[in-house]
Amino acid sequence: MVSPLPPHRGIMTGEQARVLRGHILHPHTAWKAESFVGAAAGDRLGSKSESASRPISFGEQRLRDVSYDFLGRVAVVTGGSNGIGAQIARQYHAAGATVVIWDLAEPKNLEVPCSFHRVDISEPSQINAATSEVVEQHGKIDFLSHNAGFAGPTLPVTRYDPEVWARIIEVNLNGTFHVCQSVVPEMERGGFGRIVNMASLAGKEGTPNASAYSAAKAGVIAFTKALAKELAETDIRVNCIAPAAVKTDILDQMTPEFVETMIQKSPMKRLGSTAEAAELVMWLSSSACTFNSGAVFDLSGGRATY
Ligand SMILES: NC(=O)c1ccc[n+]([C@@H]2O[C@H](COP(=O)([O-])OP(=O)(O)OC[C@H]3O[C@@H](n4cnc5c(N)ncnc54)[C@H](O)[C@@H]3O)[C@@H](O)[C@H]2O)c1
Repeated sequence: MVSPLPPHRGIMTGEQARVLRGHILHPHTAWKAESFVGAAAGDRLGSKSESASRPISFGEQRLRDVSYDFLGRVAVVTGGSNGIGAQIARQYHAAGATVVIWDLAEPKNLEVPCSFHRVDISEPSQINAATSEVVEQHGKIDFLSHNAGFAGPTLPVTRYDPEVWARIIEVNLNGTFHVCQSVVPEMERGGFGRIVNMASLAGKEGTPNASAYSAAKAGVIAFTKALAKELAETDIRVNCIAPAAVKTDILDQMTPEFVETMIQKSPMKRLGSTAEAAELVMWLSSSACTFNSGAVFDLSGGRATY
């Protein structure tokens, strides 16, 4: 996060130069950021007609106030073809970063220039090949925003298919290990890195009828803390976000009743937006994020209590 500073007595430090570039870029990035929030506002409010009739205040004001200068940074966004990851890709691009997407599916409606690698994050060989390609093409990896994942069926433990359980753990938890194991050495080589893993409030609370997903996301939280401690004496910060329900396609994996229960549990009585998740990732990627590592950042409309 940057705020413009004037050069002191005609001498500019590297940080001031970056800040100044951010200021010059601001009108461009602000225009793009606002158009993204406009798109996400429909998501947040549930329908286009609702968004037209209700004033929009969340997120929009913050994006007008805050800008980031990620020019020269290389960002890998897993799960960047859709939902939260796609919005993160848009906002990294708006801030000037080079964006690389690792996903099973090709991006839909992304509208930003990016490289796409078809990667199954449960397959270490595919991840390692993608890491090598990114480094060959762009020289380094500065940011890892790891979002690839899926929720699986909504069923009680007694009816959960063990093979489905294993796949949910494989992708959501083991995938996080595989991706970080591949990317961290490149960050160590570059002497800088920001990793933001997408956990879930389910990993803190334990969501009934989503036991595999809850267990996997609890594992993502613990893994994030362990890795952060391993890297604490470097300039690599490792944090995770624990969203409650955010309006994306992942909610289609749940019954409408289940989604409604999540909305009713929210003190704000609404779903989160992809823009709200992406904004937090921008700050956690920035050089302002220095003393935070191994932390879980709730994104829950006031629902999280610890
Ligand atoms: N939307 C929510 O309510 C919510 C809440 C808490 C946490 N999350 C987490 O946020 C992240 C993003 O979720 P979303 O809501 O944007 O979902 P989404 O379904 O819109 O997007 C997930 C993306 O991950 C990709 N993906 C899935 N499995 C993959 C694999 N094995 N390898 C590579 N890519 C894979 C999909 O192709 C898709 O593009 C997930 O980790 C999810 O668990 C979402």
